[in-house]
Amino acid sequence: MSNLLTASIGRKLLMSVSGLFLILFLFVHLTLNSFLLLDKVLGFKEVGQMFNAGVHFMGTNPLIKVIEPMLALGFLIHIIYSVILTVQNMKARGPQSYASGNKTSDVEFASQNMLVLGIVIFSFLAVHIMNFYMRMKGFITWEAGEVEFPFFGSMAKGENAYALVHETFKVLPIVLLYIVGSVALAFHLSHGFWSSFQTIGWNNSKWMPRLKCLSNILAIILGGGFSVIALAQYLFF
Ligand code: HEM
Repeated sequence: MSNLLTASIGRKLLMSVSGLFLILFLFVHLTLNSFLLLDKVLGFKEVGQMFNAGVHFMGTNPLIKVIEPMLALGFLIHIIYSVILTVQNMKARGPQSYASGNKTSDVEFASQNMLVLGIVIFSFLAVHIMNFYMRMKGFITWEAGEVEFPFFGSMAKGENAYALVHETFKVLPIVLLYIVGSVALAFHLSHGFWSSFQTIGWNNSKWMPRLKCLSNILAIILGGGFSVIALAQYLFF
């Protein structure tokens, strides 16, 4: 029994740590994506140059090559353990329950629906990886070609990633899909962030309200940020 308990706590811990790692990735990703909107503000001559420079930096940086497999592992751990914990929890307490929350009316929407939100995000991610990652890495052909952009004081050549994103966000259903994915992400994070700290053991009465508040801020920045970028590309670029 105590072994089972330890294993269960260990699994929750792995989910928490992988989740926090993924949040770090999302901040870096949002920062890079914000370049899609910032060329004019930051004095770049042509729209898209700043994003292309950012993508080039990420694609040629040796550190990113090390982090990329870690990121994939982080997603795998997070997804696999969410399924294991859910099944384990259903077996233990019946089909209505889920590890992160009970089904009473006072528990907020996100905590009751973490698995469903996770499935929505996963589905979004599958489309997203096909849209961008598979094309950028050459698994699916695309024809945007190479462009020049300023890169640390001189000019560099690289793939026109901006053209790919720009074309993708000209299609309204895709923009709507990104908004749905980002809103699901926001709800998922609004519970997942503070819940991770609770699992780690940082759950005293002074810090919990602060962490819950921070979770909401984080959810708005990340969910709102990704949505606004997709919508702004559709409407204004
Ligand atoms: C406005 C919204 C978004 C845009 C414009 C965007 C853009 C991109 C692009 C261009 C790539 C390919 C990068 C490369 O291969 O060099 C990429 C990859 C990726 N995106 Fe996004 N993304 C958005 C939202 C999201 C969201 C909401 C998530 C997570 C829930 C996400 C997760 C990923 C992951 C895991 C990868 C693969 C790893 C990587 O290449 O960094 N993205 N995205």
